Order: sequence, then structure tokens, then C-alpha cells
Amino acid sequence: MENVKIIGAGYAIPDQKVSNEKLSQVVDTSDEWIRSRTGIVSRYISRQENTSDLALRAAKEAIQSAGIDSRMIRLILVATLTPDNYTPTVACQVQAGLGLNDQPIMAFDINAACSGFLFALECAASLLKEGVALVIGAETLSKILDWNDRNTCVLFGDGAGACLIQRVQDGSSMTFYARSQGDVDHALYCPDRGLQPDLVNQAQQKTYLSMKGRDVFRFAIQAMPDAIQQVLAGQSLDSVDLMIPHQANIRILEHVSKKMGFGMEKMFVNLDTFGNTSAASVPIALAQAWEQGKIQEGMHVILVGFGAGFTWAACRIQHGKGEDTQ
Ligand code: COA
Repeated sequence: MENVKIIGAGYAIPDQKVSNEKLSQVVDTSDEWIRSRTGIVSRYISRQENTSDLALRAAKEAIQSAGIDSRMIRLILVATLTPDNYTPTVACQVQAGLGLNDQPIMAFDINAACSGFLFALECAASLLKEGVALVIGAETLSKILDWNDRNTCVLFGDGAGACLIQRVQDGSSMTFYARSQGDVDHALYCPDRGLQPDLVNQAQQKTYLSMKGRDVFRFAIQAMPDAIQQVLAGQSLDSVDLMIPHQANIRILEHVSKKMGFGMEKMFVNLDTFGNTSAASVPIALAQAWEQGKIQEGMHVILVGFGAGFTWAACRIQHGKGEDTQ
């Protein structure tokens, strides 16, 4: 458990909204199929902004919402599987974009696919000694989607979410759980361009994300309840005011809700608008909940996610002093 608290949150999405209808002009699918199987109605696809651009915009929103001087930042962690470059990292690009190159900051990226933001939050909470940590989840998944593969391209979108955390002594805490299980079956898979043994005739292969949807579904409905139970550590789910899950598929969330006896009305859902934005999904939802005033002092919130790797994780947030800690 770490005595850290969220002090600000923000998000950024690209300017191009793509409806299911519009997508069905590009690939053999329909609004009815996507809606009924996933709950997704639209997603945002970036035309010009790369991952670091979205990450920087989300970071600026979070800083503004916290009302802090950005020079308080000591740590920048970005969760992404779609960075702009192999190097430099998106985190370093954000540091530069914020004009903080002269500050004593540690900045690096983390890739744990859709669980990445939760992994990054845990790392930030345990690494943070003084000042503020900026934790971001940012993706331009559209770069690695095969727009002819209806099994995958209809599910994903682009965006970024960010939050700022600070060490406090006001009863706030974060309790983490994170797990990985090496995937040998390529249930969610995107290879790199490959080795280049022939130095003369180098084939620059373009690669795409592929998925075994049913296997991922089966994994998700086991992994989410596991992570939630782990961070609850014996406490009742009734004490949880708000659940902010990874936004992959409404059917997964309904399944988890039913299995755990946790009402959908306490589950934050925005996948209808954004689709699955991988590492950006939990922080975008968190930032929207923050903006809508759904995270108040004394509240008990759970963030939970799962993704490729496989990876899965949760964070139980006591935001300010709770009833049981007063
Ligand atoms: N539009 C229209 N038809 C489609 C389609 C699309 N976009 N994608 C697949 N289909 C077709 C399939 O080809 C199949 O046709 P067939 O029966 O003629 O072969 C049919 O729809 C049913 O496919 P199926 O895979 O059985 O659908 P499903 O009910 O399992 O739903 C997913 C598919 C992907 C929505 C579901 O498996 C899922 O949500 N999995 C988890 C994915 C996920 O969360 N990924 C991200 C993890 S971070």
C-alpha cells in the first residue's frame, strides 16, 4: 500500500471521430454487429497527432486540473505499446514538450499492453519520493491495425489519459496488484518488423495486431475478478463507490458485474464513444470521472485492467480519509 493521492487528471483524443457506419464502408462489418457484440458505437482515429502529441496534451490537461507548477514533477511514466519511435521514449518527448528538460526528472515508458497504465501507476507510486509523478497511458493503435481485418480493427481507437499523484498523509492510499502470464499462443499479438539477416536485401515488413477474440474474452472474465478480489483483500465490494475498468467490451464488463454482484451503475463506461484505447483506456475513463466530479474525498475507487502479454492488474484507491480510517 502506498500513501499517494491523485491530484489531477486529464485526457486528449484526436479530432477524427469514426462511427461504426463509417467503418462499415472500409471493412466488411456493420453497426449492428459491432454494437451488439461489443457495445462500441464510435472511436477516434488520429490523422496527424502521434502518441507523444496526445500524451502531451493529456499531461497539460492533468497539470491544469491539479493547478500545480509543472516544475514539481519528478517522475514521468508513459504506458504505451505504440510509441512514436523505438527511441527516444514518449516519456522523454513529454518532458521536452512540457519544457522540463532542466528539471531532475526520471522519465521512461512501460509496455504492459492494456494493463500498462496500472503497471505504470504502481511503479510511479513506489518510485515517488518527493514532488509529483505524472502517469500517462497513450496510444495510436491505428498505426498497427490491419484495416482489412474486421476481427480487430473495429475494436480499437486512439487517445491518451494522464494523472498526477503525490505522496500525502491524509488517509489516502493506493493498493496494487499486477500479474503477468506469458502467452505462447499469440492470443493478442503484434510482431516487430523482424531480424534482417540478409544485409543486402532487407525486407521492411509491415506488421499488424492480431487477436484470438474468444480466448481473450475467456481470459478477461477470469482476470478482472481475480485482480479485483486481490486488491479488496477480504473487504466487501459494497464499500466500493466506483469501478473504472479497462474499456474493451461491454459484454466483458456485464459478465464481471454479474459474476461479482457489482452493479453496472457503479461501473464507469465510455467504450461506446472511444472503443478500446489499450493503455489509454483506464486513464481516459479516470480523467472523465475526475472531470465529472465522480471521485470525491472519502471515496473508494477500483481501477482494473487486463491485456496482451497476458497481463492483468488492479488498484484500490482510498481517495482521502474513508469512513473506516476516520
Ligand atoms: N463484423 C461482422 N462480422 C464479424 C466481425 C465484424 N467486425 N468480426 C467477426 N465477425 C464474424 C466472424 O467472422 C464470425 O463469422 P462466422 O461465424 O461466419 O465465422 C462471427 O462474426 C462470429 O465471430 P465470433 O468470433 O464468434 O464472435 P464473438 O461473439 O466471439 O465476438 C469479439 C467477437 C471479438 C467481439 C469477442 O470475442 C471479444 O470481445 N473478445 C475479446 C476481445 C478483446 O477484448 N480484446 C482486447 C483485449 S485488451
